[in-house]
Amino acid sequence: MIVIPGPASQELGRKIAELLKTKVVPVEFKRFPDGESYIRFDGDVENEDVVIVQTTSSPQNENFLQLFLMADNAKDMKAQTITTVVPYLAYSRQDKRFRPGEAFSIKTIVTLLEACGVHRIITVNAHNPKVLGDFRIRVDDLSAISLLAEHFKNKGFDGAFSLSLGKKARAVAAEANIVLKGGHGYVDTRRDRLTGKVNIERKTLSVKGRDVIIFDDIISSGGTMIKAIKWVREQGAKSVYAACVHPLLVGDAKDKIMKSGADGIVGTNCVPSTVSVVSVAPLIAKTLANRGA
Ligand code: R5P
Repeated sequence: MIVIPGPASQELGRKIAELLKTKVVPVEFKRFPDGESYIRFDGDVENEDVVIVQTTSSPQNENFLQLFLMADNAKDMKAQTITTVVPYLAYSRQDKRFRPGEAFSIKTIVTLLEACGVHRIITVNAHNPKVLGDFRIRVDDLSAISLLAEHFKNKGFDGAFSLSLGKKARAVAAEANIVLKGGHGYVDTRRDRLTGKVNIERKTLSVKGRDVIIFDDIISSGGTMIKAIKWVREQGAKSVYAACVHPLLVGDAKDKIMKSGADGIVGTNCVPSTVSVVSVAPLIAKTLANRGA
């Protein structure tokens, strides 16, 4: 097996290779003055099981284009198999046609990866893992929730209450609670498809005097998390932290979340950011090492 750390995941890719004690093929990359991407592998991949690591957070379109170029290049250079590790799989929130005439974006992305010769996609906390099972190509969706919970446990939050957002995500808080053991629950959130505004709809939990950790897969604009933090504060919680796998933190989302009453924000390096203190490298390396799986 050889690992190719893509331009968007240089550090994570190298760490995965180090944990696997496997060879790295570096990528030479640049952006031409007109914005086009250039990719070159500085090494051979013929007959190799190639693992390309490339997250697709902002700039999503450029990162995807680089991923397509790398995968297709590996195919042309006669790699034996091509696995793409895409820790944050952008476009996965558009997992169906919500309104007539909309593009089914995640289907298009997976179709393009398949056309570029990809045999397997490994991602982390995909927005809707169910839809990923419907494609021909194999997609493995890993969970970094227990890694986030471990981080809080190591910081002295053993026994904190784990909260998730939305009924569909209640398993997320349950997963964190296996580590934190302070009880878990969810509040219902609803987003208006046209205005994008989020409302908290079910508010029957008691978190008074508790340390509360709110777990979500993604923090993008921060709107959902801010609503939840304010609600948890109103209930008289002792402290409240935002934990997410993919800290996209668009614009000034981080500041707005802190101003809304959060004691801290913790994310993973699926998306590099100033809050990405939890590494998913061991989780991904373990999955890649398990060749039988
Ligand atoms: C929604 O289903 C997701 O789990 C996140 O809650 C959402 O994507 C966060 O977006 P934003 O930060 O813009 O509210």
